Parts: sequence; C-alpha cells; structure tokens
Amino acid sequence: MTVTIVGSQLGDEGKGGVVDLYGDAADVVARYQGGDNAGHTVVHDGTKYKLSLVPSGAVRGKVGVLGNGCVVNPETLFDEIDTLRERGLEPDVRVAERAHVILPYHRALDGIEEEEKEDLAAGTTKRGIGPTYEDKAGRRGVRIGDLLDPDTLRERLEYVVPQKKALAEEVFDKETGEAFDIDHLYETYREYGERLAEEDMTVDCGTFLQDRIDAGENVMLEGAQGTSLDIDHGVYPYVTSSNPTAGGATVGTGLGPTVIGDGEVIGIVKAYLSRVGTGPLPTELGGVEDQTPDYDADEGANADEEELATYIRDEGGEYGTVTGRPRRVGWLDMPMLRHAARANGFTGLAVNHIDVLSGLDTVKVGHSYEFDGEETFTMPPTTEQWGRCEATFKSFDGWPAVDWAAVAEDGYEAIPENARTYLEYISDELDAPIYAVGVGPGREETVVVENPYE
Ligand code: IMP
Repeated sequence: MTVTIVGSQLGDEGKGGVVDLYGDAADVVARYQGGDNAGHTVVHDGTKYKLSLVPSGAVRGKVGVLGNGCVVNPETLFDEIDTLRERGLEPDVRVAERAHVILPYHRALDGIEEEEKEDLAAGTTKRGIGPTYEDKAGRRGVRIGDLLDPDTLRERLEYVVPQKKALAEEVFDKETGEAFDIDHLYETYREYGERLAEEDMTVDCGTFLQDRIDAGENVMLEGAQGTSLDIDHGVYPYVTSSNPTAGGATVGTGLGPTVIGDGEVIGIVKAYLSRVGTGPLPTELGGVEDQTPDYDADEGANADEEELATYIRDEGGEYGTVTGRPRRVGWLDMPMLRHAARANGFTGLAVNHIDVLSGLDTVKVGHSYEFDGEETFTMPPTTEQWGRCEATFKSFDGWPAVDWAAVAEDGYEAIPENARTYLEYISDELDAPIYAVGVGPGREETVVVENPYE
C-alpha cells in the first residue's frame, strides 16, 4: 500500500519526522516533486544528517526514489550520497529517468529573476527550481534519461543554452560564465550520466514502484513544501513551481490515482504557522524584514506580538534548514487548513510542535476570515483577495510545559487536557482523525495514535 505525506501549510511542518517515524514500516520512500529546495534533518544512531534531496528513508536502509515529478541537481545528489557513504552508510537511491535536471544556468537565472521581480519575488531558495520547471513545461528541459545518452544531451544543450545565455545577457544585462557554456555543461553532465549508469541508479519510476507494491511492499510518498506553496492551490505567485498536494503524488510518480487513493493521505500540520518568503499571512505575529510585506523595521509591529513571535521562533527553531533565514511565524490558520484538507483529501493528521506552544497563557487560532465584510471559512482563490482577509481569532487556554518524553511514552491521554482540546478542535474542523502528535524534535518524541501501515 501507499502512504502519502503532505504538508498542509507553507512547508516546514515537520514532515521529515513523520516520514521517519512511519517510514520504519515502509520498504521504499519516494519523493514526487521539488528538488534540493527541501530541507530535512534526520538523526540516526546519534548522528545528525542534513538532507535536501535524497529521501530521508535512505538513511535508514530504505530504498529512496526521486520520482519523475522531481527536479534533480546531480551535484547535490552525489554530494549527499558521498557524505552518507563517508559516514559509513550505503544509501540505495534511484532516480526517475523522466525527472528533469537542474543545470547551473537554472540556478543562475533563479537568482537573477528574483532580483528583478522586486515585489513579486517569492523569496525562492535560489536552487533553480522555478527555471527548471519552466523549461519542463516549455519542452526544452533536460531529463535524467538524457544524461545517459550523450547525443541527446548535446542536442538538447545546443538548443537551449544559447536561449538562456541571451536571456541572461540581453534581457537581464548580466555576465555569463561556464554555467552557460555548452562544452563545459556537456562534459560535466555526461559524466554525471556515466555515474548514474555505473551505479545503476535510474528507473522507470511508475513501473518500479508498482512492481514493489504488487510484491506486497509498503511505499511511502513524501511530499516536500506544503499545500499553500502548491503552484495550483497555493498563494500564487508566492509559491514553489510544483504540486506538493496529493494529486502530485500520482503525476509525480507514475502510480495511478486509484493506487494513491486506496492508501492513506496524511496531512502534516504544525500547531502554529511559519513561512519562509514573501506574500500575505493573515495570522502573522510580528514580522520579518524583507519577507513581511510593508514591514517597517523602525516602526516595528505591536511589541507584544513581536515578543511572542520571537519566543515561538526560538522555541520552535524557526530558521530555514536550507537558507538559515528567520521564518515568519503566526497563529494556526484554519481557513488554510480547511482548504488543504479538501484539496488533499486527508485520511489522517499528524500535528507537530504542540510542545513549542506550551507555557503560553492563551493559544489563538485564526478560525475564519473577514473578507470584504463577510465571514469566510476557506482561502479565497487569489492572493490579492487573501491579502484583504482579516483573521477572526478563537482563543484556547494554554497548556503547561511537561515532561514530553514521558508523554510520548505514555500516549495520547498523557497530553495536557487543554492541548487535547486544541487537537480535537483541529480534527473536528478538518474532519480527519489525529494519527500522531509531535511533542519534541526527535522521532521518539511523538505520540503515535495510529500507524497507517497496520
Ligand atoms: P523555490 O521552491 O526555491 O522556487 O521557492 C519558492 C517559494 O517556496 C519560496 O517562498 C520559498 O521560501 C518556498 N519554499 C521552497 N521550499 C521550501 C521548503 O522546503 N520549506 C518552506 N518553504 C519553501
């Protein structure tokens, strides 16, 4: 069977921990979208591994697959594999031949365009994600399979590189170097192709995964980013360029929708909200320079809100795994979660980081929005409309800091009562049961209510 893990907010919901926890029962962990813009930390036998591309299951001896919906930077891929090997692991990573390759000019253009866009900049990770998906849709991309076929690789590069060079030099008035040099790119990427072939890493993803399912194995499909960063269902244009939503799991792996639908789709919810990047955020507390729209560092926001935001940011370690940027934080946004529950069809929820909120007198949630004088319970379709929404808050009594490791061992009933009231509210509103509750950063600091593979 399959279990699909989807972020229900703006990324960084703690998906890695849930994948790690439930992944024990999985034989294969596959990513279906995104690239090295994701960031997760896995702790295994006391050692910390920071990964941005390789599926975290690979650290624990699972087969890790990068599906056709991913964009793959071979340099990052081999760096991560080599680092794992240096530390004594033998990761088994497969890459879909249909996945698209991030080339150095994609990264260069990502940076150049972000600078040009000013107010429309999404605050990207500058990993070349958007420009690579752009070329995929424009039918001028290079796929992993092309790296294994030097003639095709050369042909593709000869067509596309002059266009990219002209774009950088003539439209954006930038100097270009070897990132835009056909011969250099050809030699480097042909070598990556040789290594992929030597290590027998490439697969026809859908067939590979379906064969494993038919053989009775458990497959986990690991979404990166989150629903509100989805290019179709997120806060466009402040989004990533792929589909983190559950539909992406079918398109991005080659498994049919009925296969994904026969399994479970688990929504990962952070007990509050965090966001790296720009765009509106109706439940935001305080603000972050260069990310919060119209943020004025001298004027500052409401001092109490700033203090609370800083407290949550520090307690929750809300600094980007890939970029180290401080994340914007806010209260839980229920219209955003209702939108996610519908778009993904969650069968269960994992709510993380309830420990981070402990010790507060009051915990608030944005229960609904006031939008042009009307109460609304889900996100409006345009980001301009979303920017006009004002959150209507609902308050919950806070819960104390307790021995969370003991709570994780003792189970759901050991969670402080007020925190359970909060969890049950979320579950009721989203019409999906709570499968797990994260009460600390380690995977053992999780209260497991339901294991989807059992
Ligand atoms: P890109 O994916 O690098 O193109 O960035 C597009 C938007 O998605 C930016 O707002 C990023 O901050 C955001 N983003 C991309 N990956 C992640 C992630 O793993 N966690 C949180 N935000 C992300």
